[in-house]
Amino acid sequence: MTVTRRELFRAAGLGAGALMLGSTSLTAQAAAVVKPPFAAPTAARPMRLCFNENALGMSSAAQVAATDAVLHQASLYPFVRCGALAKACADFMGGKPENIMLTHGSAESIRAAIEAYITPDAQLVIPELTYGDGEDTAVKNGLKVVKVKMGAQWSIDIEGMKKAVAAHKGRSIVYFVNPNNPTSTVVDSKVLNKWIASRPANTFFVIDEAYAEYVQSKKFVSCKTLVDQGFDNVCVLKTFSKIFAMAGMRVGFTYAAPSVIKNVRRKVAYDVMIGIPAVEAALAEVTDRAFIAQSRQENARARAILNKALDELGIERLESQTNFVFMNLKAPLKPFAERMRAEHIWVGRPFPPAVQWCRISLGTVEDMTYFVEKLKEFRAKGWV
Ligand SMILES: Cc1ncc(COP(=O)(O)O)c(C=O)c1O
Repeated sequence: MTVTRRELFRAAGLGAGALMLGSTSLTAQAAAVVKPPFAAPTAARPMRLCFNENALGMSSAAQVAATDAVLHQASLYPFVRCGALAKACADFMGGKPENIMLTHGSAESIRAAIEAYITPDAQLVIPELTYGDGEDTAVKNGLKVVKVKMGAQWSIDIEGMKKAVAAHKGRSIVYFVNPNNPTSTVVDSKVLNKWIASRPANTFFVIDEAYAEYVQSKKFVSCKTLVDQGFDNVCVLKTFSKIFAMAGMRVGFTYAAPSVIKNVRRKVAYDVMIGIPAVEAALAEVTDRAFIAQSRQENARARAILNKALDELGIERLESQTNFVFMNLKAPLKPFAERMRAEHIWVGRPFPPAVQWCRISLGTVEDMTYFVEKLKEFRAKGWV
């Protein structure tokens, strides 16, 4: 069911004053999505097909929980509720609170996990085309970065990464995003997980599964299964910014063996000090199966609209397992991006070395319908 915020409050008998009831009654509200009404993009309100956000916005229950937290808990330290969130995240992953370290978005998890394993002889090993935070952390810490060339269709060359690790005398930290960003594809988990389970000497794996909830491919098996088997050479990073639609609230977490969590925790100020509206919203969402299902469904429908149009137009694309699609313009990105911007549509930034490819984040079904119409207009003008 999709309702507007006003309808939600009316249906629940809640006005602004009703927020004073306290969090227990409020978080018990319907798990419906408050889908934003479609409006053609404008300069003031562009269509953001560039940041891999969830265009549905936070669930209605999370909106109520966050608002209630501002009204009733803003003057209180958040550690008790952070404890509850760590427990809820552990339940979500099928582990224990000792396996969890909360962070301000997964950006903090990436930084802390890498920094915790840096040694004077360390190198960071990454695929050439992947999310930039791993490399950024390495650069800030003066850590050598080895980028492994991509295989066919921008696939990750795991064998090449293994060689880069084996050839190095000191510590290797492997930052691996699966599904990968910006390519949107997954690797065969059997190969990745076997490599980690082989415990290559002096190697730590930072596995970023920011988009795992969107995956449909049977090839994907979360590396959390290795954590659950007790492996201490790996951590799995999760975020509330993607399917949970909380990019502006800044919550993420690291899932790992307790000894790894203890080590990584040295690199954050406090993991029990996340802002209380974010904590309450995350608590409302992490158990909200209906919201996750609805987000996944909207994403699949939006992706089908885009895929169909790209196929009709003969524009090559990779098989997306995420909330974005990587497409081949076979021409420089800049003119295309600028022309889309003139239509108030923001598309993905350049991702070298894929300089002729464009990442399109998926919006709502209505957003994608609008976008493919623009794409067809561009084709008629010979712009794509
Ligand atoms: C693979 C990957 N990891 C981490 C992040 C950062 O997420 P957060 O908002 O949790 O810091 C992103 C953001 O786009 C991402 O694509």
